[in-house]
Amino acid sequence: MNKKISVLQDKIKQAHAGGGPLRIESQHKKGKLTARERIHFLMDEGSFEEIGMFVTHRSTDFGMETEKYLGDGVVTGYGNVNGRLVYVFSQDFTVFGGSLSETHAEKICKIMEMALKNGAPLIGLNDSGGARIQEGVVSLGGYADIFYRNVQASGVIPQLSAIMGPCAGGAVYSPAITDFILMVEHTSYMFVTGPNVVKTVTHEQVSSEELGGAGTHATKSGVTHFACANELDAISHVKKLLSYMPQNCEEMPALLVYDQDQEESRPVLNEIIPENANQPYDVRGIIDQLADEESFLEVHKNYAENIVVGFARLAGRSIGIVANQPAYLAGVLDNHASVKAARFVRFCDCFNIPLLVLEDVPGFLPGTDQEWNGIITNGAKLLYAFSEATVPRITVITRKAYGGAYDVMNSKHIGADLNYAWPTAEIAVMGAKGAAEIIFKKEISTAADPAAKLVEKEKLYADTFANPYRAAERGFVDEVITPSITRLKLIRAFKMLENKVVNTPRKKHGNIPL
Ligand code: HXC
Repeated sequence: MNKKISVLQDKIKQAHAGGGPLRIESQHKKGKLTARERIHFLMDEGSFEEIGMFVTHRSTDFGMETEKYLGDGVVTGYGNVNGRLVYVFSQDFTVFGGSLSETHAEKICKIMEMALKNGAPLIGLNDSGGARIQEGVVSLGGYADIFYRNVQASGVIPQLSAIMGPCAGGAVYSPAITDFILMVEHTSYMFVTGPNVVKTVTHEQVSSEELGGAGTHATKSGVTHFACANELDAISHVKKLLSYMPQNCEEMPALLVYDQDQEESRPVLNEIIPENANQPYDVRGIIDQLADEESFLEVHKNYAENIVVGFARLAGRSIGIVANQPAYLAGVLDNHASVKAARFVRFCDCFNIPLLVLEDVPGFLPGTDQEWNGIITNGAKLLYAFSEATVPRITVITRKAYGGAYDVMNSKHIGADLNYAWPTAEIAVMGAKGAAEIIFKKEISTAADPAAKLVEKEKLYADTFANPYRAAERGFVDEVITPSITRLKLIRAFKMLENKVVNTPRKKHGNIPL
């Protein structure tokens, strides 16, 4: 008996050794942790249960039958993160470069299925050279098996992908289907084709970092939602992100204990909007006042900065915030901002996270670049995402709500539950100057002093529409509120809406303009 137990213990040791000490050393030299070290930092101490430790590949080509590693390059299992069940796979770069074989894929699929059946989040720690080259088509099939399960799980359980090394070729598509991607600066990269192929095909000379590093994807492509300083930072972001989410689409996010006797008035908000309506201000200043202290986690921070999205808490309740950012391009809606916000809104709606919209938007960005790159379709994505969302939805119009952007930014007309406006709100088809130039064109051009006439007409239009009261008369704005009491209003309103039920028409699924 003891002998058999020691055989087992030897095998466990062997599995824990991965690709061997030299390869582990090389991994550390690159500033990377091993697959097991990552799991150790992610999971609550002692909670990780491994599944499939002794799996090996079945390949016999290229002498592979003599080179086998227990676990076959991926550690899979389940455990707790801050007391909550999660499923995890962590690719082991020390074994065949973490490449995906048939059995490696089977291990990942097995825990994906368990995560889906048991309704708990799936976390992927990716570090892989892609398809196991020695295996050919079976490894490609393995990828497709994973993609298929990612899609089945989409909207049912949260799926998070941390990229901690190479992620190239078709391997990028599993993370791309998941809800959030986190990349580690300088040690991870993602691209469909690497620098060598790029050079051959397009003659562009580009480094891996420039082509698909964390910085590139966090600012240029928007592929990653977070660029993290190092692996531990990425792991702590994963934990924080999870804290805003429920286990699955049937549950609500955890409501944290909150001291109900707190003073909720925020007098600084009465001074936060500049006197001059064209002066920028950072909307994060408003978010910080409205949300529970230090609870705001910004998503896509350096991408499409004219819109700010992220998670926060309001009296302990998890909420998603979508806010126009007047400090960047005046908070205008453009292609990237529309898609960024639409994806975030849809995530929140999948997982019962109420939405707060802070609106200060001068409209959609004009120009050939925008039109030719599909602002019609992309703007429609955001319109569609808000319109289909059934979670509690509240809008606060802080300043401008102009044109089509007024409709799109969670207006009452597209199903917002409550729409508040500050006295500084201006709800109109367009800004006063532009409007006066069009509707009083003749009067202005024939006036003795056209400039003075324009000023006069601009004032007339502003007095008529640059306020929230016309919209409030119609009920498009439910209440005009003093900014300082906004937090209190929101706490009460989201509580009032917590049992909201919406019956939507029966359908297979909608057809969002992709
Ligand atoms: C088998 C692989 C491998 C792979 C790396 N290795 N990638 N083994 N299949 N895809 C092995 C290496 O042989 C080496 O083994 C070890 O992993 C470490 O690799 P190195 O090259 O020494 O490491 P490094 O210099 O850090 O370079 C990492 C790398 C490079 C950039 C990832 O290995 C590389 O370019 N690999 C190939 C990438 C690739 O083209 N993959 C296929 C993509 S197509 P030893 O024994 O020396 O430790 C694809 C299709 C998917 O994935 C389609 C799905 C739809």
